[in-house]
Amino acid sequence: LAKAEVDLASIPEGKNVIIKWRGKPVFIRHRTTDEIQEARSTNWKTFRDPESDESRTKKPEWLVMLGVCTHLGCVPIGEAGDFGGWFCPCHGSHYDISGRARKGPAPLNLEIPPYEFNDADGKLTI
Ligand code: FES
Repeated sequence: LAKAEVDLASIPEGKNVIIKWRGKPVFIRHRTTDEIQEARSTNWKTFRDPESDESRTKKPEWLVMLGVCTHLGCVPIGEAGDFGGWFCPCHGSHYDISGRARKGPAPLNLEIPPYEFNDADGKLTI
């Protein structure tokens, strides 16, 4: 299995990084306290693909997900859209700061790949 490793110390709070994993982009966001609060305080049960932020993250400050729009596979743009997260310019899907589909044609939330934190060396392995 091809694995990708990222040094989390290189990603400041409030920043996105995109890496490649198995030929696909993976978005990593170091979320701020406000973003975490926003992601966790919304009424996710009403969303089209209802998932809590807690179920989508292993540590609240790190959001790790595939950068592949669940509509037809374009790469969404970060720090864009109506919900403070990502926006897919192909057909106008909006994702929130937890990567959940909130508006537009995307039927599902951005997918979460398997990943692990290696606390000893501060690295994330995907
Ligand atoms: Fe993203 Fe259609 S591929 S909105």
